[in-house]
Amino acid sequence: MEEKKVLEELRRYRERDLKYEEGRILGSMCTKPHPISRKVLEMFLETNLGDPGLFPGTKGLEEEVIKMIGEMLHNRNPFGYIISGGTEANITALRVVKKMARERGKREVNILIPESAHFSFEKAREMMDLKYEKIPLDKRYTMDVKYLRDYIEDKGKDVDGIVAIAGSTELGTVDNIPEISKVAREYNIYIHVDGAFGGFVIPFLEERYRLEGYNYNFDFSLDNVFSITVDPHKMGLAPIPAGGILFRDISFKRYLEVEAPYLTETSQATLVGTRPGFGVAATWAIMKLLGPEGYREIVSQCMENTYYLVRRMKEYSFESVIDPVLNIVAIRDENPLDTSLKLRKMGWYLSTCRCVEALRVVMMPHITREHIDKFIEALARCKKR
Ligand SMILES: Cc1ncc(COP(=O)(O)O)c(C=O)c1O
Repeated sequence: MEEKKVLEELRRYRERDLKYEEGRILGSMCTKPHPISRKVLEMFLETNLGDPGLFPGTKGLEEEVIKMIGEMLHNRNPFGYIISGGTEANITALRVVKKMARERGKREVNILIPESAHFSFEKAREMMDLKYEKIPLDKRYTMDVKYLRDYIEDKGKDVDGIVAIAGSTELGTVDNIPEISKVAREYNIYIHVDGAFGGFVIPFLEERYRLEGYNYNFDFSLDNVFSITVDPHKMGLAPIPAGGILFRDISFKRYLEVEAPYLTETSQATLVGTRPGFGVAATWAIMKLLGPEGYREIVSQCMENTYYLVRRMKEYSFESVIDPVLNIVAIRDENPLDTSLKLRKMGWYLSTCRCVEALRVVMMPHITREHIDKFIEALARCKKR
């Protein structure tokens, strides 16, 4: 094909995709990347962090990004990678938990995990033959810490890891990680925090939470939090793929390394081998451009829009399942699947919850008040209110 024709064909396919700026994508945890991403993509298109000896500049950027995210999470000395996403990050953390358990002579690897955990943990369980004990949720839809404590008191020596969630996929809830940390320290248990979504939100709402009297701390300042998933390609505004896994320090690296005889380095720790550098470079650029103040503004705007949606819902007697903690609203509905399909026919794309009968809106930066107004009217029409 001629180039002109190839591009024409591509355009035709691309036109079938939804566009974030149209405001119809209401259920995604990704958004339109920061505009600098285009320039970065061009500069870093051919970089491959699977062989960092060939791309020491890009590798240097990755180390700086990990340091910057580490600082956001109260850790000056983190170790980690910018990888394909939250799924790979969670799998990577559980690789470490499994290796550590094996070194202690354990054959079965037992992990406590809340009902609210993302389905990526199911993939990890299957791949690594892990044993999960699902911890029920309390009335705030967070991990029931009393249940957790009772379970550990009963079977403490058998527990190899705890997964806690800082920003659940469905409702945006944050587990009581300060309390979980106390139990974990007492019994010397590894905590992995999945802050894939919340990692780029909670640190920028600290002031608001403090004023409102909440303690949503989830980071390395808490004992036994040894790894955290934080995805720049969600609320960090980075282009896909840019997931993040951070460990407390470099000592965790050895659990991940395998020999890599034909590369410029002798070992490789990431799950994916060949991996792009542009997500790393774009994350670096966006974090430098925005700084904490820039993120704070974006997160505040998303939260204001979240509260705005809840207010507009009340006008039509729609109920929010919880008072939003992050920029996610769950709208109670007796038949969410059916409603979401009807809404899809009307051009609105949002998803449903599993833990409660509800529709779910993730209030990402691409959604404006105008979009919210149009959506709420569509929902009212759909439900004949
Ligand atoms: C809390 C949480 N963890 C992990 C993931 C998986 O992330 P990814 O789709 O980037 O692999 C998601 C995705 O929405 C998530 O919400």
